[in-house]
Amino acid sequence: MSADVIDGKAFAARVRTEVAGHVTRLRTDHGITPGLAVVLVGEDPASQVYVRSKGRQTAEAGMNGFEHRLAASTSEEDLLALVNNLNADPAVHGILVQLPLPDHIDEALVINAIDPAKDVDGFHVSNVGLLGTGQKSMVPCTPLGCLMLLRDRHECLSGMNAVVIGRSNIVGKPMAQLLLLDSCTVTVAHSRTRQLPDVVRQADIVVAAVGRARMVRGDWIKPGATVVDVGINRIAAPEMGEGKTRLVGDVDFEDCSRVAGAITPVPGGVGPMTIACLLANTLTACCRVNGLEEPERLTA
Ligand code: GUN
Repeated sequence: MSADVIDGKAFAARVRTEVAGHVTRLRTDHGITPGLAVVLVGEDPASQVYVRSKGRQTAEAGMNGFEHRLAASTSEEDLLALVNNLNADPAVHGILVQLPLPDHIDEALVINAIDPAKDVDGFHVSNVGLLGTGQKSMVPCTPLGCLMLLRDRHECLSGMNAVVIGRSNIVGKPMAQLLLLDSCTVTVAHSRTRQLPDVVRQADIVVAAVGRARMVRGDWIKPGATVVDVGINRIAAPEMGEGKTRLVGDVDFEDCSRVAGAITPVPGGVGPMTIACLLANTLTACCRVNGLEEPERLTA
């Protein structure tokens, strides 16, 4: 068997087009333009790439982007003051503080200083609690993107066995909550899970978010299962030339493709969905604060 390859890049482009359509209507019908503020502290190269990409896609969707680049030496107090200003700014509907933050800044303190209604990352403890209790919340972008891909592949997720590998606050835990809300039977596995291959073999849906290159092997996969790979790992690629590197996921794509029913590639799978969902969340936040109907297909 050769798995269907789930085209996250194409799906994300459709989501962005849908968002842009709503943004146009908001402007023409209500004179409102959604605004997203992105805060980057320091010069982490990967974060700089993400932030640039977010800025470009925000503009392409017709939204206002507000970029704040601060020195790595910025004090916690100054960062909190900026967050407070953004909370109070009516032109800003979404706030994203790029993680990781420098060591001298308390990440939880900063995230929980963001107005939960503008917390487009869904990391604020209020949003975490709302999601965990099945109430309306802002949902973290990467798990939301995975859910959209899964719902597109399967008419109904109810009753399916889902194994999430990874227990991070950003992906693993919210992914498990979302699958539970769609009535999956959910197992959260992690680096200490015993007999991990046997656990994964029970899954109709596998979401891999552990951060270990090509860890999930083909013989871990139940025939026909859907495999969603959240991992982004850079590995040496001497076959492409001396000193070259390439990106791989947490799943051994070639091996698992022989067994799975559907699989997301890396790159081009979950990655593009994350920024598309960030734009969708910004639109949702803007609609909510203005008391307007929110676009239903773009939320959980
Ligand atoms: N750093 C890596 N991924 C993310 C994300 O989804 N949100 C934020 N704020 N920082 C990140």
